[in-house]
Formats: sequence, C-alpha cells, structure tokens
Amino acid sequence: MTTLLYVTAHPLNTDANSLSISRQFVETYREVNPNDNIVHLDLYMADIPQIDANLLKRWGQPPSGPSFDELNPEAKVKAIRIRELVEQFVAADKIVIANPVWNFLFPPVLKTYIDSIAVPGITFKHADNGLRGLGGLVGTATGKKVVHIQASGTVLSHGRYQELNFSDNYLRAVMKLLGIEDFQTIYVEGVAEYKDQAQEIKNKALQQATELAKNF
Ligand SMILES: Cc1cc2nc3c(=O)[nH]c(=O)nc-3n(C[C@H](O)[C@H](O)[C@H](O)COP(=O)(O)O)c2cc1C
Repeated sequence: MTTLLYVTAHPLNTDANSLSISRQFVETYREVNPNDNIVHLDLYMADIPQIDANLLKRWGQPPSGPSFDELNPEAKVKAIRIRELVEQFVAADKIVIANPVWNFLFPPVLKTYIDSIAVPGITFKHADNGLRGLGGLVGTATGKKVVHIQASGTVLSHGRYQELNFSDNYLRAVMKLLGIEDFQTIYVEGVAEYKDQAQEIKNKALQQATELAKNF
C-alpha cells in the first residue's frame, strides 16, 4: 500500500496559509487515492527528541545497536523515538512538508525532525564519491517524492528576496542527501508584501495544490 506522510510544522491548528494549502493538497490526494495510507505527523503535537549529550556520544549508530545499553534511561527513550521517526520516514512513499517561514527559515521543530531522520548509516552514508541517500548505493533511486508547501510574507521563490529562501533550499538539499531528488514546491508567498493581492495569492496556491495532488 502506498503511504503518504504529511508533516506539518505549525503551532496553530487554524486556517494558516501553510496549513490550509497543505490540507487542500491532502484532501484532493485522498479523493484521488482513497486506498492510500495517509499519516499526519504534526511536529508541534508529536514527540520530536532533540539530540542531546547522551545521544551525541553515540551518533551514527542505530538505537538498537551495541551501545544502546550504555545510554541512561532518558536517552534510551529518546533513541527509541528517533528510531520510530526514521522508520516512519523510510516507510513513506510520498512526503508532504508544510511550514511557515519565520525569520528566513522554518520553525525550529522541523530542524529537530530533520536531525532525527538524517541518520548516517541508515538514511544516508558516505561513499567514495560522496554522500548517498537511503541505502547508499551509487545511482540508487529511492522512488520517494516530496512536495514542500511554504507560506511566507514576502516572495522568496524569485526576485529581490530569493537569496533569503533558506527554508526551501535547505529542505531540497537535505532531501537530496537522503536520496530524494523528486522535490516540488508550492509557494503561498508575498501575502504581507502584497497585502492587496493576498486572496489572489492564496487562491493561486490552492489551485496549484489541487492540480499537483491529482497526479502526485
Ligand atoms: C515570527 C515570524 C517571523 C516571520 N519571518 C518572516 C520572514 O523572515 N520572511 C517572510 O517572508 N515572512 C516572515 N513572516 C511572515 C510569515 O511567513 C507569513 O505570515 C506566513 O503567511 C506564515 O505562514 P502561515 O500563514 O502558515 O502561518 C514571519 C512571521 C512570523 C510570525
């Protein structure tokens, strides 16, 4: 069965732009693919462990590996949770990531999540000719794909603030590290910069989300 992992990085449960556009995407996807498994990971509601001193000491080893026993009870719980998050990510065929832009980047919990799922030796590894994603074999395609839905007050996809588009560029780079090159972005951007066009901007993003979801 195909699994779509829907990751949201927003503290509110409102019709915030990143949420309303991504919900539209997921609802359309569900209509077109009624038998697919859709899993929502709300990063503000879920337990997303930070890498702390205990975990860092054994960085790169699977939580069930030999040094697991060396962890204190609190770190063991974190390591098991990180393992669950990695397995959930690996099991997903398709991934939707939705976030607002805050001070040029996404909310910090999304970085914490990335730190959980980007595990050397599991989701990527070093090869002679560079880093390799999921499985680590040269030329291995994961077959996974990502759509990133990003809301920002200014236009970041092009124009004078393009060089500040750290959020989308970072996610694109880190997904490539994990072996995922099929990465598309839906922007709902410029709602503060072009206040008078805010509704039009949202409608355009809703339309894009609907169209992309039909064939995702
Ligand atoms: C704390 C904070 C920081 C923000 N920083 C930026 C920024 O650096 N660049 C930008 O274009 N918009 C910025 N904004 C505006 C939001 O990106 C914009 O309101 C967007 O619609 C938020 O997404 P949401 O509607 O899903 O909450 C910021 C908003 C907040 C609350």
